[in-house]
Formats: sequence, C-alpha cells, structure tokens
Amino acid sequence: MSKTWFEWHDLYETDARLQQRLAIVREYISTSLTHSPPGVIQLVSACAGDGRDVLGALPSHPRAKDVQARLVELNPQLVERGRITLESTPPFNQQIELVNGDATSSNAYIGAVPADVVLVCGIFGNLADEVALRQLIGNLKFLAKSGAFVLWTRGHTQGVAYSEVVRQQFREANFEEVDFRLTATGDMGVGLHRFWGETAPLPENYTLFVFSGTPEKAR
Ligand SMILES: C[S@@+](CC[C@H](N)C(=O)[O-])C[C@H]1O[C@@H](n2cnc3c(N)ncnc32)[C@H](O)[C@@H]1O
Repeated sequence: MSKTWFEWHDLYETDARLQQRLAIVREYISTSLTHSPPGVIQLVSACAGDGRDVLGALPSHPRAKDVQARLVELNPQLVERGRITLESTPPFNQQIELVNGDATSSNAYIGAVPADVVLVCGIFGNLADEVALRQLIGNLKFLAKSGAFVLWTRGHTQGVAYSEVVRQQFREANFEEVDFRLTATGDMGVGLHRFWGETAPLPENYTLFVFSGTPEKAR
C-alpha cells in the first residue's frame, strides 16, 4: 500500500530507532547552538518534515532567542502541522519560517544562507547512490558558513553500515567530525560535522541534490 511522507511520520510514535534518532538530533542541535558564535544563529533544515527536531530543541536552549531558521518541506500536511506547533510556541513563530517548497533547489535558501547550522536529516538514505551523496556533501558549501555545523542521519539496512560511507565522504571532503553516534537500536547513524571550507555564493535555479526515495521504502 502506498503511503505518504505525512504517514511515514507516524513511525515516530512507535519506532524506537526513529525516536532515538530524534533525541540525538535534538541534542546535536543544542550542541550546535551552544558552540555557535555570538549574535544571530542562522539555521536551515532541508526536507524538514514537520520540524519536530528544531521545534523540540529550541525552547529549552539559552540561545534560542538568537536563532533565525528556515525549514523547507515539500509535503503541505507536514508544513501545516509544523506551523500549528509553531503558532503555539511564541516567540519562535517570529523566528522560524516553515516553507512549503522544494528543498533540492537552491532557490529555497535565498535569504537564509550561509547558515551556522544546516540540517540534512532523513535525506542521505533517499539519494540514488554514493555519487549523489558526494554531490550533496560538495554542495553544502552553498548553504554553510565556514565553521557551520552540519547534522545528518543515515539508517542501516540488512546489516550494511551505510553511515560509515557517509563519515568517509565527509572526511574526504575535509569536514571535521564533531560527534557521531549510533542509536541504541544499533542501526541508525547520526552525525555532527563541521564545515571548515570556504562558503560559495548561492547559485540561482541550481539543483543541490536529487531526492529519489519513497516513504514505502524508507525506514
Ligand atoms: C525521511 S523524511 C525526514 C523528515 C525530517 N527531516 C525528519 O528527520 O524527521 C524525508 C522528508 O523529505 C521530504 N521531501 C522529499 N522531497 C522533498 C523536496 N524535494 N523538498 C522538500 N522536502 C522533500 C518528505 O516530504 C519528507 O518529509
């Protein structure tokens, strides 16, 4: 039976690995905010779902007032749910934009980058292959400031530790690994890297990555 990405999010109610992944992502958001330079902290999240990672991490953080965030998500129901959560958590509704748009296009980030914190969670498992992964990691220079934190997730399937491939590619692209953790279930990697390269100006109408996964196959 086909399901939508909105329905996929129901897994957060029951799936231990997704719940553990969310807890680690929130912790890494918190770490990134703590170690960001003084002043405004610009955050972007690609393929953001309903934004529960950012919306869950922010309220308790002492630097929350400094955050300006743009969360980009294609599924309108998820955006709607995120906006409802946002409306009930002032003052964050002034600081966080939940945009219903195509996160694969550079246009989605105009005016919101370069960012101090970049979330690419739930994306790497939805790319075609390692070439597509390398391309996306290479394109992070359009979104990230030098020194920016990049948060990512990658599930394992049938015993294949795909997160090791991701870590290797970040190493090859000269990112610094700040932390990496597997969920207690042992089959989901969550990483926190730091970009120390040079930021590149954001091109217009440029495809940063191709999201080819489907919610039936995703876990
Ligand atoms: C695996 S989910 C991850 C959601 C969220 N980042 C999380 O970790 O809970 C992938 C998300 O990507 C969204 N998505 C797929 N293609 C997209 C696109 N072109 N632009 C923006 N979002 C997209 C889906 O609707 C879905 O919500």
